[in-house]
Amino acid sequence: MTKTVLVLFGGQSPEHPVSIVTAAGVLNALDTGQYTPIPVGINQHGDWVLAGTHQRQGTEWSVATLTNQQPTESTPTTALSDTLPEVPETTTPVALRKVNSDNQLIDVDGNVIATIDVAFPLLHGPNGEDGTVQGLFETLGIPYVGAGVLASAVGMDKHFMKIAFQYAGLKVGPWVTITDADWQNTRDDALAQVAQLDLPLFVKPARGGSSLGIKRISMLSQLEEAIEHAREFDTKVVIEEGILGREIECGVLDSLDGSRAKASYPGEIVVTGDDNVEFQFYDFESKYQSADSAELSCPAELPEDVTELVRDQAVRAFEAVDAAGLSRVDFFYTYDDELVINEINTMPGFTPISMYPQMWQRTGVEYPELIDALLRLAQQH
Ligand SMILES: Nc1ncnc2c1ncn2[C@@H]1O[C@H](COP(=O)(O)OP(=O)(O)O)[C@@H](O)[C@H]1O
Ligand SMILES: [Mg+2]
Repeated sequence: MTKTVLVLFGGQSPEHPVSIVTAAGVLNALDTGQYTPIPVGINQHGDWVLAGTHQRQGTEWSVATLTNQQPTESTPTTALSDTLPEVPETTTPVALRKVNSDNQLIDVDGNVIATIDVAFPLLHGPNGEDGTVQGLFETLGIPYVGAGVLASAVGMDKHFMKIAFQYAGLKVGPWVTITDADWQNTRDDALAQVAQLDLPLFVKPARGGSSLGIKRISMLSQLEEAIEHAREFDTKVVIEEGILGREIECGVLDSLDGSRAKASYPGEIVVTGDDNVEFQFYDFESKYQSADSAELSCPAELPEDVTELVRDQAVRAFEAVDAAGLSRVDFFYTYDDELVINEINTMPGFTPISMYPQMWQRTGVEYPELIDALLRLAQQH
């Protein structure tokens, strides 16, 4: 008997299109001898839509079939094209319902489409990676892949994440948080605090992702505009001192035998997009849309003791926020040989060519094996 996996993707966050690409990658690598996938997309309105209505058995999943279009030859499954895909508005809305101990996926007429054994939420950003959908699965008693409610929420919030890291003895860079109340009531105080930080600054929505809403500024005169821009994504804004260094990432995977979580070899992001080195950063375009503007080098060329330090700190960061299943932990390795933690992603980019699966592949864990481990871990809880 196979287990039925609810593969949930899309969602009401700016990372919606990325999530569709991830879902195609996961579905193509899922061991169908063990698992029967039920793909469900969440559209921009928050409706759950049965996906893959044009999927033919035995064929590759694609962005087209997951958005309920006829498959085309040229449909990319691993990179985003200029027209960003979207889960359709209407067509076959579905919902979860609990009957006795069964979690049924039903259509509008109440017909049962499937009984769900385990959920794989492949959602990034707000309403997906932030503990909200995890709470839904908790209340229904459905086992699910990845971090729980608290870890997801802390991992989404760049302010609380830093506090958890500091408590665990990890080094974070100087930062100032401006809440909506600060901005409305004590704006001058908040701006004065920011003025204490060394330029350049990174101005970010506190609960964002995929670099969306982030601006790098090199003059304080650009600050208010950058804050207003970040506030379009989240009314809580985090402002950080720019850190000069290499961007080093590390994958963390929980252990099936209950021992401590394991770290992959560290990888390095080399951003080559902008001709002016000073202005390069790992933005949305270099992450997803421009194949040659960011490269992963893994294992990163680091002294052996630094490699071990990265791996140790990645696991400590995972534990600091109480994560589960998987996470990608991102650092800066400064030119003064200091390791500064940037962030944890509890649902990192997970297409076959994303950093997280690539780092594990180079550590000896292939993509299908990774997916299988995550589904097994989910069912252990
Ligand atoms: N404090 C910083 N110093 C230098 N570069 C930064 C800093 N913060 C962010 N960046 C750059 O911006 C990118 C996106 O920022 P990040 O905090 O990782 O946001 P997201 O959660 O959207 O991925 C980073 O990968 C890095 O290139
Ligand atoms: Mg990041």
